[in-house]
Amino acid sequence: MKDIIKILTEISAPSGREDSIAEKILEVLDGNFDGYRRDKLGNLIVWKEGKSEKKILFDAHMDEIGVVVTNVDENGFLRIEAVGGVNPYTLVGSRINFSGITGVVGIEGESLKSAKENLKNLGFDVLFVDVGAKNKEEATNKVKIGSFGTYDAKFQDLGDRLVSKAMDDRIGCAVMIQLLKEMKEPLNSIYCVFAVQEELGLVGATVAGYDIEPDVAIAIDVTAHGDTPKAMKRIPMKLGNGPALKIMDGYSISDRKILEFLENLAEKEGIPYQLEILPFGGTDAGAYQRLKAGVPSATVSIVTRYVHSPNEMVDYKDVLNTVELLKIFANSEISF
Ligand code: CO
Ligand code: ZN
Repeated sequence: MKDIIKILTEISAPSGREDSIAEKILEVLDGNFDGYRRDKLGNLIVWKEGKSEKKILFDAHMDEIGVVVTNVDENGFLRIEAVGGVNPYTLVGSRINFSGITGVVGIEGESLKSAKENLKNLGFDVLFVDVGAKNKEEATNKVKIGSFGTYDAKFQDLGDRLVSKAMDDRIGCAVMIQLLKEMKEPLNSIYCVFAVQEELGLVGATVAGYDIEPDVAIAIDVTAHGDTPKAMKRIPMKLGNGPALKIMDGYSISDRKILEFLENLAEKEGIPYQLEILPFGGTDAGAYQRLKAGVPSATVSIVTRYVHSPNEMVDYKDVLNTVELLKIFANSEISF
């Protein structure tokens, strides 16, 4: 599965610009489905028919955070704005990939004092991107106002731990791809939504459930960690402790019956798991939960260090155990 994770995370596809990742996902799936469609917003929906009447919706968002060019000055320097939750501190000193054009992020500072002041209250106003152009014309031959970019970072296999940009949420996409590949004849029908624009506020998921009308929805997404030096003390999640069953986050409370069902499955099958409470954030589960008359929804998370940075780190065994747990879930008799 590591090869798939490398391929997916190295694609540059920020929110609203997901065509390249959708195409790659279809290519990697290699026909392991009964059907697929792209809806009007660009969500990629891939399904496999089951024997029961039940429809399970699995969701992972295929967009990643990024930046957009807002202006180009006379000397060829770009100004940018965030697409999704980009931390300006993480941008400083990093490289941006604008569809193959590399830019370097710099910060203004006319004196030591103002440089320090800018760093202290860092915002996008004092950041610029240098694409190596000598003037405006040269710059706009490479990128334009409205060009989207993402972190420029390679996948690294550290053994048990894997590092890349866009683990959020290509790791969830990789889990669903593996599910579709491994499930030959699922008991329940599974609909995998590779959703667009989650980072802008669950945009794709908000519409994707309507034409599927699932009996139950599970979002697979990354969550924060509490296991690095002086990490947030209220967060119990650790890398390597198994898939995290989300009790709640800043946007939704997971359906209690689904959580109990997943917990029992994990206990019975000897799959490690951990419980998650995130005091902020949200996942696509919050969108499915609010669909029509409501859909029982939950999130299964992959604990990830350094979320929304060019170097997001996951534990490979957590990824494999998430696939195992969801595979058994899809093959279980459910009463949701
Ligand atoms: Co995110
Ligand atoms: Zn995410």
